[in-house]
Amino acid sequence: MANKTWLITGTSTGFGKSLATFLAKKDDVNLVATARHAERLDYLDEFNHGQIKKLTLDVTNQAEIKSVVKETIAAFGSIDVLINNAGLGYFGTFEESNRNAVKYMFDVNVWGLVDMTRSVLPTMRQQKSGIIINFSSIGGLFSFPTLSFYHGTKYAVEGISESLAKEVADLNIKVMLIEPSGFRTDWAGRSSEKEMPKIADYQQFSESITGNAEGAHHEAGDPDKAAAIIYDQVTNHESDLPLRLPLGKFAADTAVQKYTDSLADFKKLHDLSASADQPE
Ligand SMILES: NC(=O)c1ccc[n+]([C@@H]2O[C@H](COP(=O)([O-])OP(=O)(O)OC[C@H]3O[C@@H](n4cnc5c(N)ncnc54)[C@H](OP(=O)(O)O)[C@@H]3O)[C@@H](O)[C@H]2O)c1
Repeated sequence: MANKTWLITGTSTGFGKSLATFLAKKDDVNLVATARHAERLDYLDEFNHGQIKKLTLDVTNQAEIKSVVKETIAAFGSIDVLINNAGLGYFGTFEESNRNAVKYMFDVNVWGLVDMTRSVLPTMRQQKSGIIINFSSIGGLFSFPTLSFYHGTKYAVEGISESLAKEVADLNIKVMLIEPSGFRTDWAGRSSEKEMPKIADYQQFSESITGNAEGAHHEAGDPDKAAAIIYDQVTNHESDLPLRLPLGKFAADTAVQKYTDSLADFKKLHDLSASADQPE
């Protein structure tokens, strides 16, 4: 079988680095690993066997997106798996969050993913095949205080991906959302700005923001295991790829609890909800 070409955003650290390292060891993979600063991809040099390309890519830069897609096709002739992994966080109460910082997070987490996907879709449509893997979060299903806008980005990714999946299903293009709980990456540390509450009414949330910062690199999730699971899903379960894949025990438990609770609420409200229509 022909090699699959994988294109991944944000491979300097965390999930992206784990994925790139895992895929770099596979004979059936052409790997395009991208990062804002290409020198942060030196860790791939020990694997360089002609099937690996390291490219500079800031997902907020349209020109760089275009050139990465072009270079990928020139090098390998196809794009089979796109992994929209690049992302950041932001801790702060809803009222006190910095508008510009939050808008930038939407630029990366939502618009970066959208622009990457739109740039790759013409190739996948032409191939009549492709897999788009979008990093959401368990925070794309369930919300905590001090992360309102991060949740906003991930719920956006969920809705966009679910709709897109239906539009491209007949073209043999699949979409999978990855919904991790806490994983040992740079996310809770350097990749998440923290705005400590100044308003007295919100002081109770200071501790949880500090706790998240201090908990960075002690999370339960292992990004190397996530990489192996994602590769296995794509390689051995392509025909029944799930739309949503929670990763980590907390994510697995929370997803089930969220839908169980929501189902009970929606059932309780069902007749009232339905009664709002015009009479038939
Ligand atoms: N770790 C968790 O607990 C967790 C849980 C749920 C979801 N996630 C999601 O997992 C994804 C990966 O994050 P991670 O946990 O691996 O954290 P990470 O170690 O901080 O990695 C984030 C990656 O995104 C890159 N990035 C940030 N802004 C970018 C931009 N404008 N253009 C291109 N790349 C950019 C970073 O590059 P630089 O090195 O240049 O900053 C870095 O490579 C994110 O979407 C995150 O929301 C993480």
